Amino acid sequence: PPHGIVVLGSANVDLVVDVDHRPAAGETLLGSDLVTTAGGKGANQAVAAALLGGSVAFVGCVGDDGPGGLLRSSLSAAGADVSMLQVVDAPTGTAIIMVTPDGNNSIVVAPGANRRMTPAAAEASRARWAGARVLVLQLEVPIETVDAVAQSAAAAGTRVVLNAAPAGALDGATLAVCDPLVVNESEAAALVGAEVTLATGPSVVGDLLALGARSVVVTLGGSGALLASVDSPDVVHVPAQQVAAVDTTGAGDSFVGAVAVALAEGEGLEVAVRWATHVAARSVQRRGAQASYPARADVPPPSALRARPEQV
Ligand code: RIB
Ligand code: NA
Repeated sequence: PPHGIVVLGSANVDLVVDVDHRPAAGETLLGSDLVTTAGGKGANQAVAAALLGGSVAFVGCVGDDGPGGLLRSSLSAAGADVSMLQVVDAPTGTAIIMVTPDGNNSIVVAPGANRRMTPAAAEASRARWAGARVLVLQLEVPIETVDAVAQSAAAAGTRVVLNAAPAGALDGATLAVCDPLVVNESEAAALVGAEVTLATGPSVVGDLLALGARSVVVTLGGSGALLASVDSPDVVHVPAQQVAAVDTTGAGDSFVGAVAVALAEGEGLEVAVRWATHVAARSVQRRGAQASYPARADVPPPSALRARPEQV
């Protein structure tokens, strides 16, 4: 049977160094020893979803090199199907990541093999993504591929979850099939030109819906997330669990993976977002992206997060 969830996107090896501050122009800084781990927004989302019990296939490109092998192993160990992970003649995507003591990061990505995820390369896995229940996309592969795959998957009846990260403009026809569009504060600002806070959030969510998405989720880090949809336009705020963040790298990806699993299981968007905040809160308490993601048993089940009937 087809996989419930297909994630099409990037796979990167993360080269992580802890620093006590972000270096200024011209500054040389000594950091911690280097840690090399599996990352990339697409692969992170696939690993997160697979660890949470989703039936997941990952579609992407890596190089014929050590980092490509690391990514393949991390995906398989989590339980994701890697039969559509192509090996191409380019170096595996690489992310240079600095983590500051507050757990925040700055990331530069050298896309490498991810640039080979062209519309033609994506065609090879059409049967997978067009037959899936949920397709998850991000913006670390060529935008033409995201546009083509999102629109044709939706036409085939697949639910499209688009994480517009890193920030970028989106085609109207692609926005129109997002259910949901998931963005953080800065990605939302890039789309609607307004700063997002808990106070301005509801109007920003309204602006994002007005761009044409069928539903929208704006993540706010430690402040949780906001959501609304065409069918339920009243903006809902889901608070986050208050935890001490060690490393927020890939937390948003674990959130997106969790949303995909809950939706594939037939939960509504609000329960999916509640569950995702639990998953992301776990991920920030450990270092790294994929290495920090919880298993299903580590978080409450989605069914426990359904709205309880009102007490009388
Ligand atoms: O979202 C976090 C990810 O962004 C990292 O794993 C890095 O590879 C970049 O893609
Ligand atoms: Na983490």
